[in-house]
Amino acid sequence: FETKYTVVSRRVQDQQGDVATAVEEAAVGFRSIKSFGRREHSQAKFAERTETLYNTSIEKVRLSARFWTFLEIVPNISLVIVLLLGALAVGSGPLTPGTLVAFIILMLQLIWPIQALGVILAMAQEAMTAADRVQEIFDTESAVQGGDRELEQPRGHLRLEGVGFCFPDSDELVLHDCDLEVLPGETLAIVGATGSGKTALTGLVPRLYDVTAGRVTIDGVDVRELTLPCLRTVVATAFEEPTLFSMSARENVALGRPDASDEDVAAAIETAQAGFVYELPWGLDTRIGEQGMSLSGGQRQRLALARAVLAKPRILVLDDTLSSLDVHTEALVEHALRRVLADSTGIVVAHRASTVMLADKVALLDGGTITNVGTHHELLESVPTYRELLAADADTDDELAALEGQSVPG
Ligand SMILES: Nc1ncnc2c1ncn2[C@@H]1O[C@H](COP(=O)(O)OP(=O)(O)OP(=O)(O)O)[C@@H](O)[C@H]1O
Ligand SMILES: [Mg+2]
Repeated sequence: FETKYTVVSRRVQDQQGDVATAVEEAAVGFRSIKSFGRREHSQAKFAERTETLYNTSIEKVRLSARFWTFLEIVPNISLVIVLLLGALAVGSGPLTPGTLVAFIILMLQLIWPIQALGVILAMAQEAMTAADRVQEIFDTESAVQGGDRELEQPRGHLRLEGVGFCFPDSDELVLHDCDLEVLPGETLAIVGATGSGKTALTGLVPRLYDVTAGRVTIDGVDVRELTLPCLRTVVATAFEEPTLFSMSARENVALGRPDASDEDVAAAIETAQAGFVYELPWGLDTRIGEQGMSLSGGQRQRLALARAVLAKPRILVLDDTLSSLDVHTEALVEHALRRVLADSTGIVVAHRASTVMLADKVALLDGGTITNVGTHHELLESVPTYRELLAADADTDDELAALEGQSVPG
């Protein structure tokens, strides 16, 4: 009984988890579901899962009912037997009626605790399977373990030496033999087709993933030797799909530096051109709805940018953070970002020529490795692939450069 009950109650708990996941997915993705007219489909999926859960639960109830019948019947049958044999014994002499009554009372008193023990055992069984589920999560080793070195005065000298990388659950190499050097204070743009591994590459610096070959160093120290808190104060990233939390706008911006002063927060917001937060109903104290759904894509990106800038990292990674901004806002942000990037090392993933203009040099990521490094104009002139990637933007690029008052050779 015990093993069977354990198996079934574990299955019930897993299926409850499935149902909860389906509900959460449907709630978060309700816009996509509605706009593609998939309501029936997602309803059917929910119904299917609840039905499986229902069936397993019934199976569980059936099992425990059997156990209960057993727990009820056995003591009662023994009571009948004791009464019968006792009555016979009293009739034929060896037992006095008093002893029989005393014995039966004792027995009745014992039945309840034994039944209660059964309940407790069943409950313990369930608690144990639940604890197993939690333990499975706690027991998962973190793939990234920090080292024990600290950088006293990080300068932000970043090097990639023969870096290769593949995602843990696949054996396809996303990156191989990447060599790159970014000097302190320099800004490097990474350009590459969609899916070429730009996000993967930037994730290697703060050790969101670990390299599978070669090494990444900051100021000559392998990032795997640094403590994680140290590494992550040195590097800050603004992601392409920023996550905002349901807290106030100020808390969202100050995520990486909760003790930041009001002036610092204001300066970061200014840099990211995220002034729109002051126009929210309660200004900076407005609670950003769940996952920032109440903000536009570009607004979310600017908040994420302000967050990264406020952390004042030595190495600032911007993973296509300006992609949702209109050209005018982008130019304003870039103008402000130049000041920030002037004294920290920058890695900027860029899809547009206008973003590339932020950088001192550009690295082209093609076929999983860095094929060319040079200035924007060098690459534009000498590398056809680069030209194709940014061709559509060439005009905007010139206009922007003109806007910024720079002269464009060629
Ligand atoms: N968690 C993952 N597990 C396995 N493969 C992944 C994972 N994440 C990304 N990939 C694969 O790795 C490759 C590189 O992805 P990456 O996100 O780095 O591309 P990207 O250059 O940033 O693209 P984009 O310009 O669209 O942001 C892609 O082919 C992608 O399918
Ligand atoms: Mg990406």
